[in-house]
Amino acid sequence: MSQSELWVAAAPALVQAPAIRVRHLWHRYGAMDVLRDVSLEVGHGEIFGFIGPNGAGKTTTIRIMATLLDPMAGRVEIDGIDVSVDPDQVRKIIGYMPDHAGVYDRITVREYLEFFADSYRVTNLGVVDAVIELTDLGNLQDRLVAALSKGMKQRLGLARILLHDPKILILDEPASDLDPRARIEIRDLLLELRELGKTIFLSSHILTELSDVCTSVGILERGKLVVAGPIGEIAERLEEQRAAQAVGLAPGDPGAPRPIQAFVPAAVEPAPAPAADGAPVAPPPPAVVTTAGGAEIPAATRKRLRLRVLGDARVVMPLIAGGTGILGVEPGPGGQLTVYYVGNDRFVADVVRHLVASGVGIVGVEPERNELERIFLEVTRGDLQ
Ligand SMILES: Nc1ncnc2c1ncn2[C@@H]1O[C@H](COP(=O)(O)OP(=O)(O)OP(=O)(O)O)[C@@H](O)[C@H]1O
Ligand SMILES: [Mg+2]
Repeated sequence: MSQSELWVAAAPALVQAPAIRVRHLWHRYGAMDVLRDVSLEVGHGEIFGFIGPNGAGKTTTIRIMATLLDPMAGRVEIDGIDVSVDPDQVRKIIGYMPDHAGVYDRITVREYLEFFADSYRVTNLGVVDAVIELTDLGNLQDRLVAALSKGMKQRLGLARILLHDPKILILDEPASDLDPRARIEIRDLLLELRELGKTIFLSSHILTELSDVCTSVGILERGKLVVAGPIGEIAERLEEQRAAQAVGLAPGDPGAPRPIQAFVPAAVEPAPAPAADGAPVAPPPPAVVTTAGGAEIPAATRKRLRLRVLGDARVVMPLIAGGTGILGVEPGPGGQLTVYYVGNDRFVADVVRHLVASGVGIVGVEPERNELERIFLEVTRGDLQ
């Protein structure tokens, strides 16, 4: 074999296919197009949140991925394998949990898992024990499935799909209808599974149950994918879009302003003395915030950062107020400080660095957690089918 032939033979192994690749997927029930040209990619090791309102087409997409439904047009590849060409092979590498999985009620948790291990032809008897331990079902293994709570049943459902050690998990609404504790347990389990190298694709119509575990999201509305990618990247893209729109240009236009990425403090003024009666000093009026290109950024896009500092928060306020990107600063009790700003994560890191360099003791930094909610509201129109 010549050198170039060797290279060509080795090439496919060098370029790893994404865990999930969906290309121009269409599906129709009767006269209704329920999936309209959906394309997305999920990298290995990601937790991808597939978000959309009821009827958006999440389950339809997932059923195609899980080889249960043939796409009418387009293709889906799981780890490089086309679901329509080799569904058997795909089934070996995915663990699929449907939205309403039935369980057999009159057997115990252990019997249930042993039954499925058997039907999946899992011969290693240690696997059931390992899965029971991983999903924390040890104390429940002799309990009848009928006697499990909804959250426990959900964990059992996850345990079942782990028996054949799939590398890609496809979960349809794994946290819906669970109480907060059960939801947190599922969330922690998903994080643990990711640590073990699994890729997780999960759907939800509730944003908040996902925002803290997902590395990436895709938002589906009326069968169309409106946005997809890592949450931070989507947020930055939208910020760029807003900054460009503020000066009437298209995003990416060479003349479009870049969003604020760095905090530059205003000239430091002496700290104001607290008012004699002990009342908090009024916060400075919000500055007009402009992008690096001079365009005004609408205050509606502001974000909130909560800081807790050692000592009197009012003394710290002038160190931040008036800096680039800062819309306002409000002191609170116990060293709390609420900072309204326009900027990204680097901006927040800059603010914290500046305060530390100025000798401020920082006890807590809590950026606003509703990034995903803001993205959702911005990219969707709220249409339901
Ligand atoms: N077997 C079917 N026959 C006809 N229409 C269907 C069928 N399954 C789903 N649909 C329709 O297709 C659309 C998409 O349904 P799908 O179940 O994929 O949405 P979903 O995003 O999973 O919604 P939900 O959040 O309620 O689970 C809906 O309008 C639904 O009524
Ligand atoms: Mg569904």
